[in-house]
Amino acid sequence: MASATVTVSAPGRVNLIGEHTDYSLLPVLPIAIQRRITVHAQACDNGIVTAVSDTFAGSFRSDSEDNPAWSRYVHAAVKILGSRSGAHLHLEGDLPPTGGLSSSSALTVAVVRSLLELSDSRPSDDHLIDLAVRAERGAGVEGGAMDQTVIVRAQAGEALRIDFDPPAHRPVAVPPDVAFVVGYSGAPAQKGDEARDRYNARVVGCRTAAHLLGLDPPILGRFSGTAKDAVESLPDEAVPPEGLRLLSEGRFEDSSPLPVKAYARHVLTEAVRVDDVEAALRAGDIDAVGSLFDASHASLAGDFGVSTPGLDALVSAAREAGASGARLTGAGFGGWAVAVSPVDRSPGVLAAMATVAGEAFVAIPSEGVR
Ligand code: GLA
Repeated sequence: MASATVTVSAPGRVNLIGEHTDYSLLPVLPIAIQRRITVHAQACDNGIVTAVSDTFAGSFRSDSEDNPAWSRYVHAAVKILGSRSGAHLHLEGDLPPTGGLSSSSALTVAVVRSLLELSDSRPSDDHLIDLAVRAERGAGVEGGAMDQTVIVRAQAGEALRIDFDPPAHRPVAVPPDVAFVVGYSGAPAQKGDEARDRYNARVVGCRTAAHLLGLDPPILGRFSGTAKDAVESLPDEAVPPEGLRLLSEGRFEDSSPLPVKAYARHVLTEAVRVDDVEAALRAGDIDAVGSLFDASHASLAGDFGVSTPGLDALVSAAREAGASGARLTGAGFGGWAVAVSPVDRSPGVLAAMATVAGEAFVAIPSEGVR
């Protein structure tokens, strides 16, 4: 018997380290956070999915071509599940929809799981992650699987080290004297909007770098030599071959040369920082975590070109207020930054980060979807 109503709540995430590494199948180390999106779903017998949100105006109908922008991921979730029975979804929550804290993946995971549960099929974690990743790619961003994986698998009090090739994950306890403070840059970076093409350019650029290194399939995570030698052998720029511009949904249209050497340098050095942050957290060495955050931000702002003046301002404000280190978190192009700080200095760091755009909070490592 299908259930008449279900409620599913999915958290946002803050990535601690491993930025723009997941789609090259290199590791990441995110936490799920206490800010969440909740979907209250009720079965309907008309075969149509409808949705309303407490946060946004307008409503979604699966049989309409004219839906509001916020419902893009509701549509993506309905589409990946194919034709199903009808449902009415009521969305609420306190996860900022500004980009950087993965509200799109939280929404997708929550809607996919609630629609499946309504029809009485509780998906395995692997299946839920796979459906949510494919749903989002269908919406045009060729993302990796970091966000969906941590949103589904996270446990309270722990970060999650995720490997993609081969797939594996392990908890990393967050020491009680460490605080992660996040602040908003003042500029939204929604995956679906302008950030989409800039994100996909990095995906295609990393594939091109891997291809030039002779990797088949063209994935930087398959590289097993010395990163420095590999990077030095690459040209500064290269035009992506036609076949590497194919995305799950359509094609990356821009065939301008991409800075493949700088992209590869970021990705290959960032992957090493994931190991190093994991080791530093296990050793309780906050200063080492902070230095690695700083190095990550420098690489994302320089080689990878995804920072903004607002993100740089947040990072500087946090460091000046006594954070051990700070970096942008998520895809960049706007959105949020994360600082690591001893707990006793975190109120000052929070106040300083809040001066940039008025929004900051201490991110608490929280449990995944429930
Ligand atoms: C977005 C994507 C993730 C990941 C990050 C950058 O959040 O959804 O898959 O690539 O950007 O690390």
